[in-house]
Amino acid sequence: MTAPAVARRHEGRRLLARSLSGRRRVVAALLAWSTVQALPAFLSGRLLAQAVDDGFLAGRAGTGFAWLGALGVAVVVGAWGTRETYLRLASLVEPFRDELVEVVVTGALRRAAVSGRPADSGGVARLTQHVEILREAYAGVLMTVQGFAITAGGAVLGLFGLLPAALVLVLPPLVAGLAVFAAALRPMAARQRASILADEAISESASAVADGLRDVVACGGEGAVESTVGRHVDAQAGATVALARTTAVGTGAVAVGGWLPVILLLAAGPSLVRDGATTGELIGALTYVLYGIHPALQTLVRQLGGAGLWLFVTLDRVVEATAGDPPGPAPSDAPGGRAPSPGSADLLLDDVTFRYGASPDPVIRHLDLEVQEGEHLAIVGPSGVGKSTLAGLMAGLLVPESGEVLLGGVKAAEVAPEELARWRALIPQEAYVFPGTVRENVTYLRDGASDDEIDAVVDLLGARPLVDGLGGLDGGVDGGALSAGERQLLTLVRAYLSPAPVVVLDEATCHLDPAAEARVELAFARRPGTLIVIAHRISSALRARRVLVLDGAGTAAGTHDELLDGSVLYRDLVGHWG
Ligand SMILES: Nc1ncnc2c1ncn2[C@@H]1O[C@H](COP(=O)(O)OP(=O)(O)OP(=O)(O)O)[C@@H](O)[C@H]1O
Ligand SMILES: [Mg+2]
Repeated sequence: MTAPAVARRHEGRRLLARSLSGRRRVVAALLAWSTVQALPAFLSGRLLAQAVDDGFLAGRAGTGFAWLGALGVAVVVGAWGTRETYLRLASLVEPFRDELVEVVVTGALRRAAVSGRPADSGGVARLTQHVEILREAYAGVLMTVQGFAITAGGAVLGLFGLLPAALVLVLPPLVAGLAVFAAALRPMAARQRASILADEAISESASAVADGLRDVVACGGEGAVESTVGRHVDAQAGATVALARTTAVGTGAVAVGGWLPVILLLAAGPSLVRDGATTGELIGALTYVLYGIHPALQTLVRQLGGAGLWLFVTLDRVVEATAGDPPGPAPSDAPGGRAPSPGSADLLLDDVTFRYGASPDPVIRHLDLEVQEGEHLAIVGPSGVGKSTLAGLMAGLLVPESGEVLLGGVKAAEVAPEELARWRALIPQEAYVFPGTVRENVTYLRDGASDDEIDAVVDLLGARPLVDGLGGLDGGVDGGALSAGERQLLTLVRAYLSPAPVVVLDEATCHLDPAAEARVELAFARRPGTLIVIAHRISSALRARRVLVLDGAGTAAGTHDELLDGSVLYRDLVGHWG
C-alpha cells in the first residue's frame, strides 16, 4: 500500500470529526436536552426505593403508588427530552449526509476529469446509495452512544445519591467491561475492513464474469473463472469467521460490565443491610443496574460492534475510494495496476502461444517478436491465420497461454486497463461510430482536443470532404447512413488524435480506396510512436519498414525484398495481391 493510501485510510473519520466540531452549538443543545432525557434513568432507583421503604413496606400503599406516579411523571418528562434530543441529532446527521455526498460526487467528477474518461455515473449512484445507508448508521451510532451516556451516567449518579457504598461494586466492573470492549474495537475494525474488502473483491470479480459470461463460455474459461471467484469467496468466508470471533469479545464485555455488578450486589446484600441499607435502597440499586446500566451497555456493545464498526470502516472506504488521489499513473498496489514505462512504446512477444478456449490447435505458436519504439511494422498472412489474434495480444486484450507479452517493458497482464487505453489505440476492421457529433466521435479517445487540432488531423487523413458533408465538427453522426469507408475514416481520425504512442490498425483501412489508404498510412507513419498495420494490400507492406509474415506453421520477418527472396508464402501473397 502506498503512503498516500495509508494517509487516506481514516479520511472518513476525519470528515466525521470535522462535521461534529463545526456544529458546537447543536452539540451543546443536545447535551442540555440530554440532561432532561436522563431524568428517568437518574430517578428510577431512587423513586422505587422511596415507594418500597415509605410506601409498601411501611404499610402505606397510597404513598407507594404516589412515588410510582412520580416515576411515571419523570418518564414523561424524559420522553419530552428524548424528542428534543432526537431533533438535535437530526441536525447533526443531515448536514453530514450533505457533506459526504459532496465529497463523493466531487471526487468522482475530479477523477473523471483527470483520467480523461467519462464520469462513472453508475458508480456515483451506487455511492450516493451507500451514503444513505451510512447516514442511517451514523444516526444509529449517535443515538446509541448518546443513549448509553444518558442512561448509564444517570444510573451511576442516581446510585451514588441512593447508596454510595454500592458504587464500588458497580463502577469498577462497568469500567473494566468498557475497557475490554474498547480494546477489542481496533482489531474488530481491521477485520471488518478485511471483510468489506473481500466483499468488494467478490462483487468486482463476479460482475466482471457476468459482463463477459459469453466469452468465458466461448473460450472454455469456466474453470479459471471458478477458481478466481472461488478464491475471493473463500477469502470472504475467512474474513467473516475472523470478524465473528472478535465480536465474541463484546459478549464478554457485557458479562463483566453488566452482569458482574448484579452478582456482586446480590452477594453483598446482607453486608450492605448490616451497614444500614434498606430493602428499598437495595431494590433501587438493582434497578439502576438491571434496567439502566446493563441494557445500556448491551445496546452500546451490540450497536457499536455492529453498525458502528461498519459505519467507520465503510465511511473510510467510501471516502478513500472516491475522494482519494485521482488515478494518475496507476498506483503500484492496485491489482493489475502498473503503467508501461513512460515514453517507451516498444513491444516484446517472448515465446508466445495462444489458443481460443479448449481448441486443440493454438492460433499463435511460440512466437518471438520485438517491435521497437517508432517502428512501422506490417503484418501479413492468409485469412484466418491469426493476424487479429496477434493484434489482440499486442494490445493486451488477449492473454497468452504461455510466454510473455511485454508492453513498454511491463507484462501486459499487469497493466491497468486505463493505462492500456492510454498506451495503445487498436482500430479493428469493423469501424465503430456512435450517435453523437463528429467532434464527440473523433475525440472519444482524447477528451479536450481543440478544434484546431481536430481540423489538422481531419485534413491530414483526407477526411475533410466527409466532415464537411456531415456539417462540420458539430454535425451529427449516423452510423447507418455512412459507408463502411466513411466510418473507418472517422475512427482513424479518432485513433490519430488519441494520446497513445502505439497504434495498431487491424485492416482498419480495408474499405478505403488505395489512394485514401496510402494517405492515411503515410500520415500514421509520420505520427510519433509505433505503428503496426495488419495489411490486406501489398502497398501496405511496401510502405512498412519491416514485414511479419504469419503462417500457421511458422513466421518470417524482414523487409519486403528480403521476404520476396526468403518466404514462399510472402511471394504467394504478393502474387495473389498483384
Ligand atoms: N473469439 C474466437 N473464438 C474462437 N476462435 C476464434 C476466435 N476469434 C478467432 N478465432 C479463430 O482463430 C483463428 C485466427 O483468427 P483471426 O481472426 O486472428 O485471423 P485473421 O488472420 O485476423 O483472419 P482475417 O484475415 O480473416 O481477419 C481462426 O481460425 C478463427 O476462426
Ligand atoms: Mg483479422
